Amino acid sequence: MQICKVKNYQELSRKAANLIAAQITLKPDSVLGLATGSSPIGTYDRLVEMYQDGDLDFSQITTVNLDEYKGLPGSHEQSYRYFMNTHLFHRVNISYANTYVPDGTETDSEKCCQAYNELIHRVGPADIQLLGLGHDGHIGFNEPSDHFEDETHCVDLTETTIQANKRFFASEEDVPRQAYTMGIGTIMRCRKLIVLVSGKDKAAILKQVIQGPVTPEVPGSILQFHPDCTIIADEAALSEMD
Ligand code: F6R
Repeated sequence: MQICKVKNYQELSRKAANLIAAQITLKPDSVLGLATGSSPIGTYDRLVEMYQDGDLDFSQITTVNLDEYKGLPGSHEQSYRYFMNTHLFHRVNISYANTYVPDGTETDSEKCCQAYNELIHRVGPADIQLLGLGHDGHIGFNEPSDHFEDETHCVDLTETTIQANKRFFASEEDVPRQAYTMGIGTIMRCRKLIVLVSGKDKAAILKQVIQGPVTPEVPGSILQFHPDCTIIADEAALSEMD
């Protein structure tokens, strides 16, 4: 695990975008594993700027996203497909057919997860996977549990996650209670991981992820075992480290 300590969210976003840009430059047909949420927004903005400056070409890129709310269509403003379209896909020259997000409209969980696993097997493990960290230690939507799930599965979101995400919905009742997510095994098979952590409210969980025991009760702690994992975190997020 490499820790890259930065001053603030702006610097975090620039550093993450630089690493992704290097990947795209060195391998123009890379598979990028992408995340949603507040953490990567600045990174996507910076990548868009680099594209607009003529420094990046997304035409051969394939993307696979970590997760999607079960029950939300891509047209729903809080769906992760909508988020990706708005923050990245519609702003760069990516081939839209090569962007993948689990199908939130598929009500048959087994069918959705199997289709996403087949897709991941077909395109291969991501060359670089971007991750955020939930307040309860989740990565993707792999919530605290008594075991690590290998591949894509349907999860019941925890109360902590529902509370954290309700800010995006009209009311708490509107937050979906389930989501489809890539498994921990799939994430761990990605060649390179970049984890973005910003803010004092993530300091306690980040300490557990980096310095605590590896346990499915803190899903992000498994990242200690990845051979090429870089955590980009700001001073506030690293403020509780020993
Ligand atoms: C999003 C995802 C989640 C978030 C996490 C942190 O695709 O998989 O694990 O990365 O909930 O969210 P933010 O960045 O909003 O704090």
